[in-house]
Amino acid sequence: MRRSLVIGNWKMNGTRASTQQLLGDLLAGLGEKALTGEVGVGVPFVFIPQAAEQLKNTGILLGSQNVSDQDAGAYTGEIAATMLREFGCSFAIVGHSERRLLYHESSPEVAARYNKAIEHGLTPVLCVGERLEQRELGETFNVIDEQLTAVLAVAGTASFLRAVIAYEPVWAIGTGKTATAEQAQAVHEFIRQRIASEDQHVAQAVRILYGGSVKPENAEALFAMPDIDGGLIGGASLDARSFLSICFSAG
Ligand code: PGA
Repeated sequence: MRRSLVIGNWKMNGTRASTQQLLGDLLAGLGEKALTGEVGVGVPFVFIPQAAEQLKNTGILLGSQNVSDQDAGAYTGEIAATMLREFGCSFAIVGHSERRLLYHESSPEVAARYNKAIEHGLTPVLCVGERLEQRELGETFNVIDEQLTAVLAVAGTASFLRAVIAYEPVWAIGTGKTATAEQAQAVHEFIRQRIASEDQHVAQAVRILYGGSVKPENAEALFAMPDIDGGLIGGASLDARSFLSICFSAG
């Protein structure tokens, strides 16, 4: 059985004070109910030390929203996997569509970042997903296949035993348009089959999260799907009540 996982992707939001408040509210809410699943937060880099302190020994996972494909050196603006590990991160989101589209990170570059996370014991949360025009042209599976294949080629299939995949249709991110549970399930099943074509055991073990306008109102139906193992939550993760409700839906 795969353990459910819900991760909040805070994106570029918050202050020192709001970070403390939100984490405090999450800890209080999670303390009230026993969860079998896992919960994590991907916070802006500068809030990582503060969040690590507050989340110490709580069981809530801490992560970043990206990681460098290099170990150290002249890479202005980048953050190394070893730095993230030193400050208490256990995962790093890689290949988010905002990175791919706004900052032109290609699939090979995302694969290199993924690989560096794996190398240093940081769990990559690999985001894949198609844009609206690609879906309308019937290219969804081809796009996902290209994004996955780039990673499989560099890091190998077994790396997915130490990684998480997040399917995030670009047209559903921050738009209020969620994929229906059936639409999401169809792509999740495709992703699992793609991994299974390499290794059946890895495919059964890897957790595949859904992301894109997940809200308390739609979380339960999405999480009930057989290949949806949790969520990557943007906007709704900034509100403690909404995020907690989504976490409880995952069980
Ligand atoms: P959203 O973002 O929940 O605000 O749509 C999801 C994401 O981008 O990870």
